[in-house]
Amino acid sequence: MFETLKAQPADKILSLMAAYRADPRDDKVDLGVGVYKNADGQTPIMRAVKAAEKKLWEVEDTKSYTGLAGDTGYHDVMRNLILGDAVSPDQVAAAATPGGTGAIRQGLELIKMASPQATIWLSAPTWPNHPSIIKYLGMPMAEYRYFDADTRGVDFGGMLTDLDQAKAGDIVLLHGCCHNPTGANLTASQWQEVADFLKAKQLIPFVDIAYQGFGDGLDADAFGVRHLAKTQPEMLVAASCSKNFGIYRERAGVLMAISQDPAKTALNQGTVAFLNRQNFSFPPDHGARLVTLVLNDAELRTDWLNELEDIRTGMLGLRQQLSDALRKRTNSDKFDFIAQHRGMFSRLGATEAQVEAMRESHGIYMVSDSRLNIAGLNAQSVPILADAIVAAGV
Ligand code: LMR
Repeated sequence: MFETLKAQPADKILSLMAAYRADPRDDKVDLGVGVYKNADGQTPIMRAVKAAEKKLWEVEDTKSYTGLAGDTGYHDVMRNLILGDAVSPDQVAAAATPGGTGAIRQGLELIKMASPQATIWLSAPTWPNHPSIIKYLGMPMAEYRYFDADTRGVDFGGMLTDLDQAKAGDIVLLHGCCHNPTGANLTASQWQEVADFLKAKQLIPFVDIAYQGFGDGLDADAFGVRHLAKTQPEMLVAASCSKNFGIYRERAGVLMAISQDPAKTALNQGTVAFLNRQNFSFPPDHGARLVTLVLNDAELRTDWLNELEDIRTGMLGLRQQLSDALRKRTNSDKFDFIAQHRGMFSRLGATEAQVEAMRESHGIYMVSDSRLNIAGLNAQSVPILADAIVAAGV
């Protein structure tokens, strides 16, 4: 049997991690995988998370199974965090999942079960694992224009023109905030327009929100998903706690199926629990429980909010520093978009050859599509990157 296996394509983000590790240069700069790093290049455990771990160690008295869909306390805090008061709790079915990727996978499986003929529309570009999982599941997919390579902003006209080709019942995958890989995001009024458009065309949104709190703030980043939850008859949301709680390896995510009709919720809840059972039975609990502890404890919550805000504003500062350094070197506003983008990533707009040249000459590691992780920078590496960008002729 094993001899029939074929080598699978390497994930371009994860293979970059290995290439970076193998590079012996001391001054190499890792701007690849989407992991937050502080000015010392560390990915620290957030203070409130560490305190919650201590508390959990003291109070947890069993490791017995939770529910198939995870702990309902976790569903409640995540629903509040992401959706606020945009919905009433009885409209939302939720399942804890192994990370945000697990939530995406489970959401796609639900779509496949309910509506196998639906095409999944993806932004061009999107996180490479989106099309990879959809292809693996054998589901129909299509792309809508999203990123304008000239302005490095959103090609909103192109997006709506392409989505006009979608048929009623198709799924539109949207990044809730901090678009990965581009950093270019919809404005509040564009979200409103998208919502009207989707509703009129009977398209179903599937929102992937993995970076809430990294863009314009926790509530501002949830504007789009909340507006959709208020206005659309039904939708799916996949969320991750990897980044905003810094618990990457704990694998804490959540899938939510939202319906305007609360009568549908019991069936949706049974379905997401069933899907968990088929794929892994019970979801991981440790990370989910930490998140629940942090969000339910006034002191821990405040500390978490403060640290998250420091992370967010730190990234904004790095964006400004890089954009200023490039203004100086190029005597132009060509790279001002870096300061306008939001979240962990920006797509620089460099060719693969230019990305390769920056790696060779300056030890800069960014994804081959020229996505760079802003959080991988610090005051020392900003000028190195700015020099490399100019030297490569971007
Ligand atoms: C990324 O885009 O770098 C992160 O979401 C990590 C991953 O799994 O790809």
